[in-house]
Amino acid sequence: MLNKKTIEDIDVSGKRVLVRCDFNVPLDVEDKTKITDDRRIREALPTIKYLMEHGARVILCSHIGKTKHKLSLAPVAKRLSELLDRDILFAKDVIGKDAKEKANSLQDGDVMLIENVRLHEEEEANDPAFAKELASLAEIFVNDAFGTAHRAHASTAGVADYLPAVCGYLIQKEIGIMGDALSNPKRPFLAILGGSKVSTKIGVIENLLDKVDGLMIGGGMTYTFAKAQGGNIGNSICELDKLDVARDVLEKAKEKNVKLYFPIDTVCAAESSESAQISVCPSNDIPDGLEGLDIGPESVKLFVDTIKEYKTIIWNGPVGFFEVDKFANGTNSIAKALAENEDAVTIIGGGDSAAAVEKAGLASKMTHVSTGGGASLEFIEGKVLPGIACLQDK
Ligand code: 3PG
Repeated sequence: MLNKKTIEDIDVSGKRVLVRCDFNVPLDVEDKTKITDDRRIREALPTIKYLMEHGARVILCSHIGKTKHKLSLAPVAKRLSELLDRDILFAKDVIGKDAKEKANSLQDGDVMLIENVRLHEEEEANDPAFAKELASLAEIFVNDAFGTAHRAHASTAGVADYLPAVCGYLIQKEIGIMGDALSNPKRPFLAILGGSKVSTKIGVIENLLDKVDGLMIGGGMTYTFAKAQGGNIGNSICELDKLDVARDVLEKAKEKNVKLYFPIDTVCAAESSESAQISVCPSNDIPDGLEGLDIGPESVKLFVDTIKEYKTIIWNGPVGFFEVDKFANGTNSIAKALAENEDAVTIIGGGDSAAAVEKAGLASKMTHVSTGGGASLEFIEGKVLPGIACLQDK
């Protein structure tokens, strides 16, 4: 349960409301004005519509890309106005003349978007003067950027020092669904963790070992575990300095009675390209010169059958190098198995696993697909998210 005030707990009528969204949407590699997945914009609509209907003067802000990329949010403004089916104002600066004039010209129910907050280096530095200037555009701050809630930046946390701060519907939904699953899951409860590194997932594994009944490990992490147990992993990715950490996880899982599922076999190749020649090897006996790039057919069967037995399933991280179709079978099979387990609560942590589910056209079959990659990981890890901690308590 999220114990923070929401947009429904505050009077927004006639007020200028600064709403932090996560409009960090993927853009076409060639054409940086083309949005390739607008899910983050669509997920922001319930909050924006509530504010419009309640007579707020809505000032939206977000980052897009990294500070060094200096990207524009203009394509987001265009898409947003299509989705809202009305014109919205777009300011070509963040705290400059255009943003200030447009913010002051808003009427009740109007919407505007200001330019990418990361055009200012002060954003990521959470510079107080910049945060104060940004806050001066409005009278209320609403954070609805779940995907950026793990960042303590000026527009995600700093502005809350200068304005009454509450959360929007997206943050409420994300925290509600994931929080319930973690604190009060329908059992048995399974976590599927993929991705390449044990080091980025160790906090999550440790936190989940206290909560889950089963833990399924796939992706590049598998080989650090295989090596830690004395296996041959050929040229597969491995964190040699994390072998003890992997052994520790195995030990703790045993103590806590958590069932562990590892891939039995692995699709191997000398390189991760579409034209690579592939073979299937036992996951703990990969010849030199080859690297494991996906779970093999036996493992797919084991994982798919296992998924059917669980009632709550959280999935974070692909189990293979899914960006290349040749190595996407394991990840796609997991997405399909989750979609087919209709009795279970299925939660997809954002980032790559969400992208895989979207690509397979299965997002609507899941209980929840998070809009946050790093943010959902840190939430599952049990960390305090600065973009939420800064909001007013109920
Ligand atoms: C994301 O895409 O995970 C969020 O928008 C945060 O972006 P960042 O990693 O660039 O801070």
